[in-house]
Amino acid sequence: MESAIETCDLTVAFSTKSGPVKALNGLSMKVDAGQIFGFLGPNGAGKTTTMHILLGFIEASSGTAKVFGTDVRQSIARRKIGYLPEQPDTYRFLTGRELLSLTGRLFKMDKKTIRDRTGKLLNDVGIAEAADRRIGTYSRGMMQRICLAQALINDPDLVILDEPTGGLDPIGRMDIRKIITELRDQGKTVFFSSHELSEVELVCDHIAIMARGKIVAEGNAAELVPEGKSLEKFFMEVVGDSGSAGGAAPGETQGL
Ligand SMILES: Nc1ncnc2c1ncn2[C@@H]1O[C@H](COP(=O)(O)OP(=O)(O)OP(=O)(O)O)[C@@H](O)[C@H]1O
Ligand SMILES: [Mg+2]
Repeated sequence: MESAIETCDLTVAFSTKSGPVKALNGLSMKVDAGQIFGFLGPNGAGKTTTMHILLGFIEASSGTAKVFGTDVRQSIARRKIGYLPEQPDTYRFLTGRELLSLTGRLFKMDKKTIRDRTGKLLNDVGIAEAADRRIGTYSRGMMQRICLAQALINDPDLVILDEPTGGLDPIGRMDIRKIITELRDQGKTVFFSSHELSEVELVCDHIAIMARGKIVAEGNAAELVPEGKSLEKFFMEVVGDSGSAGGAAPGETQGL
């Protein structure tokens, strides 16, 4: 099966005043195309850092990362990606509709396609009624929704969502689940991080749990958790004492 994402022995070390912080520590994983892949891990585990590598925002200290077979250091690898950041924000002086239209133009989409996709996405993310209001007047959850629509405007093959349901009401979470499932039905790959374990169980085909910068458990969503155990309990067990925020253990931050 084609890989949408493949990383091999990725390491990332950030330098800070108090010494280097090893955010990724030999991360190797493979995300098959067409999957909904849930990416779990405690605060500071390295989920956002992994996404930033895939998007070319930061460079790995060592190791490789590929998107649909192309090294992420080549800008062409990013053309197929749609991305919703952890704390989405955008041009607040535009209306929701204008934002989607502008983004469509940046991708050199034709006028009709922009109009059609804008209409569909505004509906899908539940912002149709507020589409002609300035984004500056949107609530946090509405900002999240319009930024998700923006991430999808160019019909990306790989959708990377960093905690897409954080800050959303129950209806919003349901909407996101529906959008994610629809994307998979269209053959897209969805790679998303979340702390909402029940949600991940509901929607994912494959789950990976990371701690201290590497994968500590992964597998088919239906088979990963031993029978009779909840995902929450399994998560606590595999994450162990790296469950507290901070990611890398003190010993692992030194001597890089
Ligand atoms: N720019 C940076 N400079 C220094 N350290 C950083 C930087 N970005 C991330 N880190 C560190 O890298 C580690 C991984 O952070 P990352 O944001 O990837 O975690 P995460 O899994 O996304 O956590 P969360 O669930 O809280 O979003 C943490 O120890 C964090 O402090
Ligand atoms: Mg994060």
